[in-house]
Amino acid sequence: MSAQSLRHQLLTADKPGRADLLFGYLRAHGNKHYEEEGTQMQHALQCAALATRGRESATLVAAALFHDIGHMLADDPVEANNPTLKDDLHEELGANYLKGIFPEAVLQPIQLHVAAKRYLCTLKPAYYEQLSEASQKSFRLQGGPMSEQEIAAFEQHPFHKAAVKLRGWDDQAKDVNVEHLEIDAFRASVLEALS
Ligand SMILES: [Fe+2]
Repeated sequence: MSAQSLRHQLLTADKPGRADLLFGYLRAHGNKHYEEEGTQMQHALQCAALATRGRESATLVAAALFHDIGHMLADDPVEANNPTLKDDLHEELGANYLKGIFPEAVLQPIQLHVAAKRYLCTLKPAYYEQLSEASQKSFRLQGGPMSEQEIAAFEQHPFHKAAVKLRGWDDQAKDVNVEHLEIDAFRASVLEALS
């Protein structure tokens, strides 16, 4: 499959086809590490498993599974040349890429999961302390603490609570000793969440 046409294929596929394409992309590109011990695939599966264990909505399970797809797209020389990818910020990139594929209830938590980290770091110093070293480092690169105006704007967002939940799973989903479910365990949730 030419990765060039992934978004086009996604837009033209039916729901089972979309699930197959997205799972195929994660399988093909999820074997990198990105400064954490586990792979992106392990991280995605663990994150989605935490959402599932919390009996969260299918849209939040899908958001958990695909929240870092922007990291994979940014590192993918074919997709990074895609004109729909204007931004190299992984949360923006992932949410923009999945527009028209998933509803806002999936896209917005993905888009806001970095802002949610800044929000939690600003309001709860203990939260910052428990972050992984890589996550503490990226926090500074992502803009550091929020201003009062940024906090107020974040709290007005209709999906900010969903984003904070996703952030919590994201931070926990870095345990390499956890036994991971297969990606197909999340197929029913992804099918339900697709637009
Ligand atoms: Fe993540």
